[in-house]
Amino acid sequence: MSNPSLLILPGDGIGPEVMAEVRKVIDWFGANRGLTFDVDEDLVGGCAYDAHGTPLTDATMEKAQAVDAVLLGAVGGPKYDSLDFSVKPERGLLRLRKEMDLYANLRPAQCFDALADFSSLKHDVVAGLDIMIVRELTSGVYFGEPRGIVREGNERVGINTQRYTESEIARVARAAFELARKRDNRVCSMEKANVMESGVLWRDVVQEVHDAEYPDVELSHMYADAGAMQLTRWPKQFDVIVTDNLFGDLLSDLAAMLTGSLGMLPSASLGAPMANGRPKALYEPVHGSAPDIAGQGKANPCACILSFAMALRYSFDLGEEATRLEQAVQKVLADGVRTADLMQSEAGATPATTAQMGDAVIAALQASQA
Ligand code: IPM
Ligand code: MG
Repeated sequence: MSNPSLLILPGDGIGPEVMAEVRKVIDWFGANRGLTFDVDEDLVGGCAYDAHGTPLTDATMEKAQAVDAVLLGAVGGPKYDSLDFSVKPERGLLRLRKEMDLYANLRPAQCFDALADFSSLKHDVVAGLDIMIVRELTSGVYFGEPRGIVREGNERVGINTQRYTESEIARVARAAFELARKRDNRVCSMEKANVMESGVLWRDVVQEVHDAEYPDVELSHMYADAGAMQLTRWPKQFDVIVTDNLFGDLLSDLAAMLTGSLGMLPSASLGAPMANGRPKALYEPVHGSAPDIAGQGKANPCACILSFAMALRYSFDLGEEATRLEQAVQKVLADGVRTADLMQSEAGATPATTAQMGDAVIAALQASQA
């Protein structure tokens, strides 16, 4: 049997720096756990635009379709702000999501014990937090037509369309119910059924899928604005949250900050099973390209490393190895190793660099074998 294959797309900003630490982790699993991956690397985002005039070439798209899993760093930066919409760095990422049909975006928000005091919320509110946001990723207002900026009379009008089909809602609902069964068996669905028809349909379809296929799972519904409020009031009431593309974008940033830092949060974007039974998959940190700190060795590589842990679990069915990696990250945090994003402005303390954090994770992995 051939080795499992990975396509690494470091992207822009801090993407290459954090991905360099993931490379160390991949190499460690190869050398120590007999898990050798065939790794290819390519360009996405602004760097692809600089090289090829497009944020994702057809050749890279083909590679992404062919591998077992894609690992992505981050895309975007101020340098590209004035580019036409069709070639912005973000379009590269959106094309990957759309053409690989990665409809279920899993964004776990877990509060590591060592960081509970670091959240902007009180310790009791976040300690032990473990929720999973399932964000629909291939439809909704991100992709709906018509869209654009048009002229009407003597002014311009900006148009985007929120659009969901029943089957798009049903498949992401199933993904959420399946996950819930492996967790605390509870799903809360969020939409704006009070003002949007697409929200009414969302609520109906999630309920129908539940009643027909997952009656054993506890299902509740919430308006997304109330959901945002409840997430900050008492986040531990939630287990799995399922929501649309735009609300999921907002709510997952909010949930991420509950845990202390956006620098800790991984994600998995999954599609339908391929011929080999593995799902189409892309793994990326929830944080962006952070151009303000790029190239300075300040970035926290944990979110990207934990995204690789999700790849081990969801693409390669290596749950134990994923847990080994997650526990290594936990140990590093418990030992007090901190990148700058994980430090209160403690005068005098020197933050760990990106590479030092990665090396500490490797040392903890090594210790896990002893
Ligand atoms: C995310 C990001 C992306 C999104 C951007 C970079 C296109 O914010 O993955 O949450 O809006 O989906
Ligand atoms: Mg976002």
